[in-house]
Amino acid sequence: MKSPVRVAVTGAAGQIGYSLLFRIASGEMLGKDQPVILQMLELPMEKAQAALKGVMMELEDCAFPLLAGMVGTDDAEVAFKDADIALLVGARPRGPGMERKDLLLENAKIFTAQGAALNKVASRDVKVLVVGNPANTNAYIAMKSAPELKAKNFTAMLRLDHNRALSQLANKADVAVGDIKKLVVWGNHSPTMYPDYRFATVNGASLKDKVNDADWNANEFIPKVGKRGAAIIEARGLSSAASAANAAIDHIRDWVLGSNGDWVTMGVPSDGSYGIPEGIIYGVPVTTENGEYTRVQGLEIDEFSRKAMDKTLAELEEEREGVAHLL
Ligand code: NAI
Repeated sequence: MKSPVRVAVTGAAGQIGYSLLFRIASGEMLGKDQPVILQMLELPMEKAQAALKGVMMELEDCAFPLLAGMVGTDDAEVAFKDADIALLVGARPRGPGMERKDLLLENAKIFTAQGAALNKVASRDVKVLVVGNPANTNAYIAMKSAPELKAKNFTAMLRLDHNRALSQLANKADVAVGDIKKLVVWGNHSPTMYPDYRFATVNGASLKDKVNDADWNANEFIPKVGKRGAAIIEARGLSSAASAANAAIDHIRDWVLGSNGDWVTMGVPSDGSYGIPEGIIYGVPVTTENGEYTRVQGLEIDEFSRKAMDKTLAELEEEREGVAHLL
């Protein structure tokens, strides 16, 4: 039996946590032969801690053979101790009358503290996925607050956007989702993101040529993927949770176990390519192998794409400026 991997999950008693933890414990994220220890963080408030306790009771009741241990805590340094993987899901939601700027600052406080705690106690190779919004900038803040950890291991979740785009494309082209390769979603996890199907293939042939509908791309596909989160809230009265947890599983699974040559979208600190300033956490296409991701380089960026990529970049630069004084 392999030795257990320590997986820290914040916001463990929230909606996404409830869809996520059981799948991690069942082996869907790291493999059916990989034991895990779940290290769960929640706010210190009585209600949150009680809910966390309930989740842990249910995890226990599943008798997962791969669940080698559990920790529930309100202390980030306990949750992140020796963590190999950290899923930062918990974040401050937007309250009534709260401006976007206030939301950014409230979350900046959380992610500077959690970055510092990771820096202090996590495995030196910890792989971090930030799900809590604003995910890209929260990941940037955590990365900047953890100078002794590998900056490249701080990532933000754009996989839900990637998966949403895959399904929209499969519907439009009437092909199977699994046959679509080489899709990318550039930029920020926000409505400014740019789902780009120019390089996508279906069974090796160009998907763009098959669809052949520039109007659909600009006026239906791109806005629909961008606004999908809002559409789910409108329909369900709650934000996406099961699909977000599923995307988090996909992101980490591919990062750890490999993407078998396919492109996946990850929000990663820029290396300066594609005109994205270094360090900005931006959704790009990557391939993954042996626990490492490699950017897909050298893609041609046409005028339409440049504009879309610059728009989402401008938003990220603005967010970065808004928190600069805290870092
Ligand atoms: P939720 O409100 O149901 O759960 C969040 C949980 O985090 C709560 O239990 C809360 O007590 C906890 N929490 C808050 N601050 C914390 C802290 N500092 N430390 C530890 N725990 C903390 O929210 P839900 O639906 O689970 O969503 C979580 C986050 O994920 C939200 O920020 C949401 O916007 C984001 N999200 C991101 C997506 C993406 O694609 N990147 C997709 C969907 C949601």
